[in-house]
Amino acid sequence: MIKKAVIPAAGYGTRFLPITKAIPKEMLPIIDRPTIEFIVNEAKASGIEDILIIVSSNKNAIVDYFDYNIELETILKLKGKEALYQKVHGIAEGINIYFVRQKEQLGLGHAVLQAEAFVGNEPFAVLLGDDLYVGKNKPALKELIDVYENKKASILGTMEVSLENTPKYGICDPKSIEGNTMLLKGVVEKPNKEDAPSRHAIGGRYILTPAIFNILKTQQKGFGGEIQLTDAILNLMTSEDVYATSLQAKRYDVGSKIDYIEAIIDFALEEPTL
Ligand code: G1P
Repeated sequence: MIKKAVIPAAGYGTRFLPITKAIPKEMLPIIDRPTIEFIVNEAKASGIEDILIIVSSNKNAIVDYFDYNIELETILKLKGKEALYQKVHGIAEGINIYFVRQKEQLGLGHAVLQAEAFVGNEPFAVLLGDDLYVGKNKPALKELIDVYENKKASILGTMEVSLENTPKYGICDPKSIEGNTMLLKGVVEKPNKEDAPSRHAIGGRYILTPAIFNILKTQQKGFGGEIQLTDAILNLMTSEDVYATSLQAKRYDVGSKIDYIEAIIDFALEEPTL
């Protein structure tokens, strides 16, 4: 069973500067809730019980958001605003959220390594905050967990991208394909499009075995001079099977302005009062 999840949220959010100077990109709202709350809710709806959010020094707004605000809640109660009180008090109810600071931003792989003590010796999920999924039938992470139950190995959630877009992602190199799921023989972080082994891109959802931590400890810098999770996953393939499955849920890259706007419009269309 996958009960623990890690959400790396320590990045600078350069694509949304200057607002991200003062507001963590994970706190940018889809109408009235921050994007990270949707990621937390996806994890919860997928059966996750404990979440570790990896933050950095200017991300205190995330920690505050998932805490009670006793003063605000007391005032709402006193004024008889029960519905609003429930809305505020009920944020991320029924799931345990922990935080750790990544002291220097050395890359996604280094961020995930900060979760070692929290995860211990069990398989765990990683959800990247830029990738917001809306599942028709089930949450995106549950799609991965269902494959995990069958394969008992690391699984990457993927989507198909155009050849032009392969340099933006980690790209999978399948060995064999069975329905939506493929056994991988390689994965490469942000290849030139001429070198892309396929158009199956990692979409920000992972189930990883704890063997990844020992690999991450000695993982050399890769693309962009950063310690890349993708490179560590490639190394994991020398000792364990790693699979990928194409996610059915709709994905918004909320780190991109166009997708962020699309997400807001789609969410508004689902909300009768808007
Ligand atoms: C990260 C991963 C990349 C993955 C992408 C998905 O890249 O390194 O492999 O395809 O997320 O969003 P980033 O977008 O953080 O540069």
